[in-house]
Amino acid sequence: MGKLFISCALPYANGSCHLGHLRSTYIPADIYARFNRMNNVDTLMVCSTDEHGTPISVRAEQENINPKDITDKYHELIKSDLEACNISLDSFRRTSDPIHYELAQEFFLTLHKNGYIYEKEIDQLYCDNCKRSLPDRYVTGTCPYCDSEGARGDQCEVCGHHLDPIQLKEPHCLICNGTPHEEKSTQYYFKLHEFQDKLNEWINSNEHLPSNVKNFAQQWINEGLNDWIMTRDMSLGVPVPLDDSNKKVLYVWGEAFVGYMSSAATWSNEHDIDWREYWDSKVVHFIGKDIIYHHTIFWTSMLMGHDYKLPYSIVGGGYLSLEGQKMSTSRGWVIWAKDFFEMFDSDLLRYYLVINAPLNRDTDFSWDDFQRRINNELIDNVGNFIHRTISFTSRFFDGEIPEPGEYTGEDEEFENIIKDLPGKVGGYIDNFEFREGLVEIMNVTKRANKYFNDKEPWKGVKEDMDSAKTCLYLSNQLVHILSIILGPYIPETTQKIREALNMPLENVKGFTEFDEREPKVKWEESNEFLEPGYKVNKTKPLFKKIEDEVIQKQKDKLYKLLDNEKENKEDDKMSDLISIDEFGKVRLVVGQVKEAERIEGSDKLFKLQVDLGDEVRQLVAGLAKRYTAEEMVGKKVIVVANLQPAKLFGVQSNGMLLATESMELLTTDGNVGESIQ
Ligand code: 2FM
Ligand code: ZN
Repeated sequence: MGKLFISCALPYANGSCHLGHLRSTYIPADIYARFNRMNNVDTLMVCSTDEHGTPISVRAEQENINPKDITDKYHELIKSDLEACNISLDSFRRTSDPIHYELAQEFFLTLHKNGYIYEKEIDQLYCDNCKRSLPDRYVTGTCPYCDSEGARGDQCEVCGHHLDPIQLKEPHCLICNGTPHEEKSTQYYFKLHEFQDKLNEWINSNEHLPSNVKNFAQQWINEGLNDWIMTRDMSLGVPVPLDDSNKKVLYVWGEAFVGYMSSAATWSNEHDIDWREYWDSKVVHFIGKDIIYHHTIFWTSMLMGHDYKLPYSIVGGGYLSLEGQKMSTSRGWVIWAKDFFEMFDSDLLRYYLVINAPLNRDTDFSWDDFQRRINNELIDNVGNFIHRTISFTSRFFDGEIPEPGEYTGEDEEFENIIKDLPGKVGGYIDNFEFREGLVEIMNVTKRANKYFNDKEPWKGVKEDMDSAKTCLYLSNQLVHILSIILGPYIPETTQKIREALNMPLENVKGFTEFDEREPKVKWEESNEFLEPGYKVNKTKPLFKKIEDEVIQKQKDKLYKLLDNEKENKEDDKMSDLISIDEFGKVRLVVGQVKEAERIEGSDKLFKLQVDLGDEVRQLVAGLAKRYTAEEMVGKKVIVVANLQPAKLFGVQSNGMLLATESMELLTTDGNVGESIQ
């Protein structure tokens, strides 16, 4: 029996799960795990909470509590969120477990022994008030690339650049707000640059990497890899085993990956099985797209440096926005898993988040669309077809699948369609194309309802019994197929379908119990037809339609937040009023775009050459998600001509184009070079 190691990205133990986490990582991983288990692949799916790093330690210091108070609480909350979504993890542990410390230190020492770790003296920030050095998020300041304020020491959220704290302009200590100074410190580095060629080869030759992951990785490798700092001067974390002073810990990204192995090792020890057999067979990492870099570049090099087998694939799920706006946990513009599952069954969410868009694309959660897809697709297609098939069988055939009559062309065609379905769906899931598999199922159920309508078996039982029997024979076969192949997608509902079919049931709840790891239902059974005479059960409806009021209540709850924000803005307005003189300082000029090209490494930005009449200006504009480069060229636009220059993605921008919040460009019929009054 083949073995498979599946990992899910380790959530930081400082917040609960929201729908974005479930969509990008945990639901896809679970579909893949359930599918493989049904195909007799011995599957080990692991996760842990990530309990180190500056977001957790800064928060603990700010709230004057122990980091463990935070991580204990969120470990339990995240666990119950994942369980409620039926994520069938075999092992869910913590990176604060002693075994994780051991394995992470061992990993680092092996890299050192193999010659990939070296020491280097660097400048870093030190706060005299707090008497400590300030790594990553202990500092904020102005971004050196885009000049936005409030950039964190590790990254600027506005332009997305990764930062080193000493690059920040006007840095401040986040704990005491003091101004830190630079001082020398010795840190350990990983020779990332040595892996450039090997990584390139691996990325290019790996046929299982989804295209988004592959493209990102290729781009980064082409830009060239710099060595990577692996340690920090702080107390929360895994102590650096080579450091006698005991003041250094491994950078959280230098040890979190090992959490996949330490979670598996804990499981191994409990069950006397060697997790390495799973690793050596096939590894698939499920992650969100924000950490594709870390996994394709850092982790893969670390694995090469240690001589571990490289992953079979790395699957990076796109972002989920909410009602058209970016989710924001600080603003409350978010749906927490726990709140959702108090209202709706987890299968409804699983269905919606998978069918909504291909995994590698960003997509949106909207309450209206959720209601529409559940009511008009899942319930009207799947629910309706299963219900009418089973109840018709009970009513007219005493609950027994009838002997088919002679096939017409229509029956033959329908039989071929349903016979092909499991293979097609399985092929998609195997290829990480989860949406495509589900779409295939939905298309066939839609087709099946049409078949049932066209065959009119309610007339057939009076006028043409053979035709009615064939229709019900084939329809029951499809219900049987669905009772298997929907299992990875909507496991609880699939059990209800099995109950209606009078088939053996099993426990599909997350997390997976050790002795229930091997599912009773196998995928290959979906290729077998049930015999005529097989007796089905009476059926209850599988689903209940989602009422308008229920959706309205959810929308009201969410939009109240926006109203509050608007009110606050109105309040602020009094003090925000500007004088005509102040407005006059803004020099607006009509320009025409002459050239437009996308900036490499950014999915949003264009580099533009804009004719302002007496000069051609270079501008950077974040419109590439809305317009193509060709569409931009020739547009007459409004330019803020006296804005301080800024650099975005290393490209100088000498002004700004006006556009709406939703990226609609403001255009004009004015003449090029004319100023706007
Ligand atoms: O980005 C995050 O949320 C990290 N906690 C993910 C770590 S995944 C892996 F490295 F372990
Ligand atoms: Zn300070």
